[in-house]
Amino acid sequence: MHLHKSADVVTTCEPFYLPSGQEVAVFGQCHANNLAVMLKGPTGCGKTRFIEHMAWQLKRPLITVACHDDLSASDLIGRYLIRHDGTVWQDGPLTTAVRTGAICYLDEVVEARQDTIVVLHSLTDYRRMLPIDKTGELLEAAPGFQLVVSYNPGYQRMLKDLKPSTRQRFVAMDLDFLPFDHEVTVIERESGVDHATAHALVSLAQRLRKLQDRGLSEVPSTRLLIAAALLFKGGIAIKQACYNAVVSPLSDDEFLVGAMQDLIDATFV
Ligand SMILES: Nc1ncnc2c1ncn2[C@@H]1O[C@H](COP(=O)(O)OP(=O)(O)OP(=O)(O)O)[C@@H](O)[C@H]1O
Ligand SMILES: [Mg+2]
Repeated sequence: MHLHKSADVVTTCEPFYLPSGQEVAVFGQCHANNLAVMLKGPTGCGKTRFIEHMAWQLKRPLITVACHDDLSASDLIGRYLIRHDGTVWQDGPLTTAVRTGAICYLDEVVEARQDTIVVLHSLTDYRRMLPIDKTGELLEAAPGFQLVVSYNPGYQRMLKDLKPSTRQRFVAMDLDFLPFDHEVTVIERESGVDHATAHALVSLAQRLRKLQDRGLSEVPSTRLLIAAALLFKGGIAIKQACYNAVVSPLSDDEFLVGAMQDLIDATFV
């Protein structure tokens, strides 16, 4: 079993999230109406931070499961464990969320196999039920239970790989990199760098993101910019910080690395 499950998280202080549109209001309505949500957006654009923020705002525990192609229905629902004193049933993360009225966040849901994903179906329509075949239980979701999945467009697996009957069970919300000034604010807040440095890092990112047309398959995320800002804050020279945190993680193609270095030199003269 390869189950990466974080403990139930009830965060005490508000996770900082700067909205870019109506996502807080839309998510709030989905929660109020028992609608499952799909968060779409590139890596490092703030999907996890958004759901942490919403769980905090809605006062629900958050249970996160990282999906992968080995994830089985039992990994989500639970299994019998054999112990010296007999067998005991252990709830999986989905079952725990259903019982406790938590928000269950399935990260990278398209990575999971279809036979794993179908266990979500009865939970994401009017039934809100989870049948546990192995124990014969039929669980009704506790108030507050909500299923949220994330999806990263542009990866190998696509939305079309999900069955329409799965896809059409979710309200989809598109998140993307923030507008310029918002991204600057996030970098200042998250790393503690000065405004001018955060501003320059976002300028660099915007230039690098344009390289996508010239063959850069992955563009720098807000996460990488924060990493560069943290290195700089810790005393690393800004160009070095950008190389290690922004350029090197994105490519090892000599031509592209060179083009990115040139943009660093042009940004930090
Ligand atoms: N709107 C935002 N408000 C506050 N912080 C943000 C926002 N967008 C991005 N961030 C910052 O960017 C970092 C990366 O975001 P996050 O981990 O939520 O990305 P993600 O979309 O979940 O990526 P992945 O698909 O790789 O899981 C966060 O730790 C946070 O510091
Ligand atoms: Mg995430």
